[in-house]
Amino acid sequence: MSQVNVGLCGLGTVGTGVVKILKDHAEEIKYKVGSEINIEKILVNDLHKKRDIVIEQDWLTTNPDDLINNPEIDIIIEVMGGIEDTNVLLEQAIRNKKHIVTANKDLMAVHGQKLLRLAKENKCDIFYDASVAGGIPIIRSLTEGLASDKIQKIMGIVNGTTNYILTKMTDEDLAFDPVLKEAQDLGFAEADPTSDVDGLDAARKMTLLANLAFKMEIGLDDVEVSGIRTISQEDITFATSLGYTIKLIGIASIHNGKVEVSVEPTLLPKDHPLALVKNEFNAVYVYGEAVGETMFYGPGAGSLPTATAVVSDLMEVVKNVRLGITGNEYITPQYEKQLKQNDE
Ligand code: NAP
Ligand code: HSE
Repeated sequence: MSQVNVGLCGLGTVGTGVVKILKDHAEEIKYKVGSEINIEKILVNDLHKKRDIVIEQDWLTTNPDDLINNPEIDIIIEVMGGIEDTNVLLEQAIRNKKHIVTANKDLMAVHGQKLLRLAKENKCDIFYDASVAGGIPIIRSLTEGLASDKIQKIMGIVNGTTNYILTKMTDEDLAFDPVLKEAQDLGFAEADPTSDVDGLDAARKMTLLANLAFKMEIGLDDVEVSGIRTISQEDITFATSLGYTIKLIGIASIHNGKVEVSVEPTLLPKDHPLALVKNEFNAVYVYGEAVGETMFYGPGAGSLPTATAVVSDLMEVVKNVRLGITGNEYITPQYEKQLKQNDE
């Protein structure tokens, strides 16, 4: 493949970052994957919206068929969000033998295992590193760097918006609503920010991490979730006076084969490393039986950090295509067994 053609679904915060990185790092990317990456089409809602980026006008379309049924396109990058309609679109794309890169944790937490199975059947790749912790390669670390270990526990801050809000409420004594608005303006928050604020976004990310770490089929219903909506300025002042900081912490652990996953506001001593993670930054501890404790830290949301993960995934797909080893993504053995039983 001397040239790979990509269809980009979404040109918002993340999509714009993807276009920028593909343009600004084109030489680097070509050197590393041995192919030129060309954006063929971009799916958007509004053709006439003012964009922060200069693009070829004929790239834009509002018709998904121009991407998923386009024989010129090899890989779909999905950075538009949504669950059910997006799932239908990606299923069709996979049936058309297109590889997928997505940043969509909502979709992957709900339909990920089925999509991965469909992709495997069609010898297609699905990569979704950007869906958890933005620019931190946490999924890649679990599936590659720490693959030989038995993971016992994962704990950390996996939502940038709530960490931004809690940081500003703690350090600058600002009120919840205006800081949420700032996080939205900066492109950290979800289209519907209630999923950030109520802990659902973090819960979705923790289920993705738990499934990869423990090779289990953990659903959202298995997660104890509470968000930060009810945290008041008084709570923060009181915690600070006692030497604590409030953070929204996700924990996934396994004991005797039983997995527990939770997301909840937690009091941390103010010098705890997670208490020092500020603004939209995320940090994730991974405890492995052999490796012991490792910590991953970096920007958990935002245009270029997230787009870095998306484009790195894209490069991985291109390399797999060249090597003829696509379709080997991580489906949990239990889920595969369950699906086979359902089929019979
Ligand atoms: P965004 O800024 O709201 O952009 C969404 C883009 O998708 C827009 O360009 C929009 O078109 C387009 N779009 C949405 N629905 C569409 C539809 N039905 N048909 C055609 N186009 C559609 O969103 P974002 O912040 O980039 O997030 C995108 C995805 O990445 C989400 O799944 C999000 O959870 C995930 N993510 C975001 C971040 C982050 O920091 N923002 C980090 C990690 C993962 P118009 O431009 O025409 O409106
Ligand atoms: N809304 C998400 C967050 C985006 O704030 O963490 C990154 O997944």
